[in-house]
Amino acid sequence: MSVFDFDALIRTVADFPKPGVTFRDVTPLLADAGGFARCIDALAEPWQGSQVQAVCGIESRGFIFGAALAQKLHAGFVPLRKPGKLPPPLVQVEYALEYGTDRLQARNDALRPGERTLIVDDVLATGGTLAAARELVAMLGAELVGASVLIELDALGGRSRWPAGVPLHALLHY
Ligand code: PRP
Ligand code: MG
Repeated sequence: MSVFDFDALIRTVADFPKPGVTFRDVTPLLADAGGFARCIDALAEPWQGSQVQAVCGIESRGFIFGAALAQKLHAGFVPLRKPGKLPPPLVQVEYALEYGTDRLQARNDALRPGERTLIVDDVLATGGTLAAARELVAMLGAELVGASVLIELDALGGRSRWPAGVPLHALLHY
């Protein structure tokens, strides 16, 4: 695949949403028809031939990339949602944030036992969100093929919370 300057379509915003945080705004990339298409192509590329059957996208920005990637890989899409959005029966995992906790939920039959599953999110930061998604996939009895994120924030070390033997691909590193 030819080299494409995805970075040029990601806007860096200092001190958002709070002081000291550098926000990576992906909306210019989403708005660029060619850039978005190339981004999904590039995210899909490592998984061609991996027989992915389900893509789990993490609310909310993971929905955008996950749903498009599911189409590209001819897989189904499963939303992993924040609390209060999905009706029961559910499975859920609580995970730590910088301050407090959050939860991710899925329908309790969202994945079939052994279903070959890929997790997708926009950003890997501390790794807590991806770890919770991995736990949900395990609770549902599916087979985890790996994970893809658009952006990995290397300095935050989130990759260390992901099992070494399971592929985790990031398109961009900051
Ligand atoms: C952001 C980002 C990832 C997560 C990464 O989501 O979209 O999902 O944080 O952080 P971590 O690796 O430290 O867990 P956020 O919860 O802010 O919500 P959003 O996607 O709804 O904007
Ligand atoms: Mg998110």
